[in-house]
Amino acid sequence: MKKTMNETSSKNGQLRSADWFGKDDKMGFVHRSWLRNQGYPDDYFRGRPVIGICNTWSELTPCNGHLRDFAEVVKKGVIEAGGFPLEFPVTSLGETIMRPTTMLFRNLASMDTEESIRANPIDGVVLLTGCDKTTPSTLMGACSVDLPTIVVPGGPMLNGRFKGECLGSGSFNWMVKEKMLVENYSAEDIMEAEIGVARSAGHCMTMGTASTMACMVEALGLTLPGAAAIPAVDSRKKVMAQLSGRRIVEMVREQMNLSKILTRQAFENSIIVNAAVGGSTNFIIHLLAIAGRIGVDLNLEDFDKIGSKIPLLVNLKPSGKYLMEDFFYAGGLPVVIKELKKYLHNDAITVNGRTIGENNLTPVCYNQDVIATVDDPLQENAGIAVLKGNLCEQGAVIKPSAATPELMKHRGPAVVFETMEDYHERVDDPNLNIDENSVIVLKNVGPVGYPGMPEVGNVDLPEKLLRKGVKDMIRISDGRMSGTAAGTVVLHVSPESAVGGTLALVKDGDMIELDVEKRKLHLDISDEELQRRKAEWTAPTPMADRGYVKFYIDHVQQAHLGADLDILQGGSGSEVTRDLH
Ligand code: FES
Repeated sequence: MKKTMNETSSKNGQLRSADWFGKDDKMGFVHRSWLRNQGYPDDYFRGRPVIGICNTWSELTPCNGHLRDFAEVVKKGVIEAGGFPLEFPVTSLGETIMRPTTMLFRNLASMDTEESIRANPIDGVVLLTGCDKTTPSTLMGACSVDLPTIVVPGGPMLNGRFKGECLGSGSFNWMVKEKMLVENYSAEDIMEAEIGVARSAGHCMTMGTASTMACMVEALGLTLPGAAAIPAVDSRKKVMAQLSGRRIVEMVREQMNLSKILTRQAFENSIIVNAAVGGSTNFIIHLLAIAGRIGVDLNLEDFDKIGSKIPLLVNLKPSGKYLMEDFFYAGGLPVVIKELKKYLHNDAITVNGRTIGENNLTPVCYNQDVIATVDDPLQENAGIAVLKGNLCEQGAVIKPSAATPELMKHRGPAVVFETMEDYHERVDDPNLNIDENSVIVLKNVGPVGYPGMPEVGNVDLPEKLLRKGVKDMIRISDGRMSGTAAGTVVLHVSPESAVGGTLALVKDGDMIELDVEKRKLHLDISDEELQRRKAEWTAPTPMADRGYVKFYIDHVQQAHLGADLDILQGGSGSEVTRDLH
């Protein structure tokens, strides 16, 4: 049964958890008695807000490997404020290890989070997040329950170091093939880079998806001010975690549920901030899914309408030069938010009870090479562009700040790869008919087709073109791209090829026109020919016939809707109508 989104954790002064712990009957005995085996004094069960610390710690998620310690710090804060902290694990998604892609499991992890919160005597939630999908998955789940919730982003790693220079995690691996072929890097060089790039706890320290997600939640008002950029190993991160533990207890008492913070204005703020920081294209797909859970009307076109005219202020890799540690020392996101004042909804409320404008009145920028001003930005009109055309009837996206300006308007012949395996097999074939004017088309890497929409859209260029010194080419797919990658890459083509989108019908040699300024992506064949190919098209065999993957394929929505499962849209609130007896 659907519940309204505005149920609070504390009705008429009565805590939600009191329905478990506040009863003097048999079930009250059962709920309290077993928990006492962990040594909680009786007063913990009598009127203290219960704070669920939702932990995505896992040794299989290296970026979140420090969150076990962080949970203890959060607990300190909760206890100081008079709460009762109870930590619980949820499915964690390790970007660099999970196959075929963490995105396949984002929605599963969100279900785990949602049901874990709802089914337990929790009044308020702290989300401990880090690696790319661990932020959106837990937040999506929390939105569908809508209790008071605060996010503690785990923080980026320290800057990578290699050959006396800074090295960005994520970004370097996209260059390995080029470095070995063109700059003659040895296997020892690559090994040294491998070791030097991940030298502390934390997530990727480029403005990749994890940093983008941390900035997203801060801009949405879901963290304490300044939380996103603090490195994982900086002592101030632990202070932030402790203060967040204190604050969530107050939020429960103030009945400050997620839906009070996550308004349409908050989402618009987040889109504006994402443009200014040069955030990942994955931001789009996750923000759409989060909006769908909390019931805010947001669509793909909003990202272009609201964000595309925003200037780029943050000079971080992959678009720029620096890394998250530099961003923190320069003043971090508060400086960006203050700088963006004229674009933002400054009266949007945040988790500390103050508005985003009030929170970010006084930050000082300590390095304008890292954070530029609105009057003298790194680039005008930096947000994400949403393309339309017969090749992407429901839309596709491109990140202009990561693209090559000369390729933003281009017409070239398609070189088609039917699958990722087909690409690997043929891309380095010296006889492949391809040059720098060609347009690489990669099919069947969308939500249904792969399945799970992996980050493969920024495929490496063919070896023979790299050797020629070609640095970038247009690449088009229904997949995603890592936030740490760059290039003139058209992504999230919707509808995807596996469900019969026009992408499925492209053939080698077809002319494709990209015009980013006009927001156009066009397959230059006649309508009659398009219809003929459509009639001949047959759907590929589904990639699974059982289990979660089959369920995912049957229910996943297309990229322009956020790739959530259709049955997970919206929320069920926090009420549980039946007891366990
Ligand atoms: Fe975890 Fe990049 S791999 S954040």
